[in-house]
Amino acid sequence: MNEAKQHWDADVYRRHADFVPALGRPVLDLLAPKTGERILDLGCGDGTLSVEIAAAGAAVVGIDNSHSMVARAQSRGIDAHVADGQALGFEHEFDAVFSNAALHWMRDADAVLAGVVRALKPDGRFVGEFGGHGNVAAVKVALSAVLERRGTDPRAHLVWYFPTAEAYRERLEAHGFAVSTTELIPRPTPLPTDMAGWLDTFAGPMLSALPESERTAARDEAVALLAPALCDDRGRWTADYVRLRFAARLAQDEGQSAPAG
Ligand code: BEZ
Repeated sequence: MNEAKQHWDADVYRRHADFVPALGRPVLDLLAPKTGERILDLGCGDGTLSVEIAAAGAAVVGIDNSHSMVARAQSRGIDAHVADGQALGFEHEFDAVFSNAALHWMRDADAVLAGVVRALKPDGRFVGEFGGHGNVAAVKVALSAVLERRGTDPRAHLVWYFPTAEAYRERLEAHGFAVSTTELIPRPTPLPTDMAGWLDTFAGPMLSALPESERTAARDEAVALLAPALCDDRGRWTADYVRLRFAARLAQDEGQSAPAG
């Protein structure tokens, strides 16, 4: 999990967003971890999926920029470290890099990919899923409206990176990957709590652009704007998620050469 002004608390995350790792399980199938492999979980969060990779017999290293999340992952036995995914410091040591629901927090996608290329052994694979083009579109519109009403330009604070499948494929290829899939998957996702809980968990970079005294009112206004689109007649909320799932493999000697981009 990345990006300044986004505060992560492992307990809050578990309450409002435990569906995130649960829905990432198909990406593990795409990763197909094997016994004896060394795998980097990039943006490992609380380590829920790292544990599953380790259960397949792989040695897992997790990195995340949240101390709270890393502490939770460590408590589950994961070799997890606080680090910025945009400045990875590994040198050709992983058979695969895996990432679920984290890359949309890392705006410098070229820096991420350069670090992944460096971290992988020749022929290593990069497999993951994150928010794709159109992800949480209604939420973005509502947050833009409440920021604009308060005289704050939303463009400076909408920090998420949600590329199209074509744009991300091109980016992977520019960094020397042979891409087997990049796919946009619309995934309306029922929330375990409600939209206020989702915004409290995920919208830190936008709401913290406002003075503290205005944040709760702004959040509640966003909730009211979103209710007609995302809340049903029984009060159940669904987030308008769109995922970008990808799998790519490093061309044989790419990991040893200077990255593109
Ligand atoms: C997501 O997982 O799609 C997401 C999480 C936080 C903010 C925006 C999107």
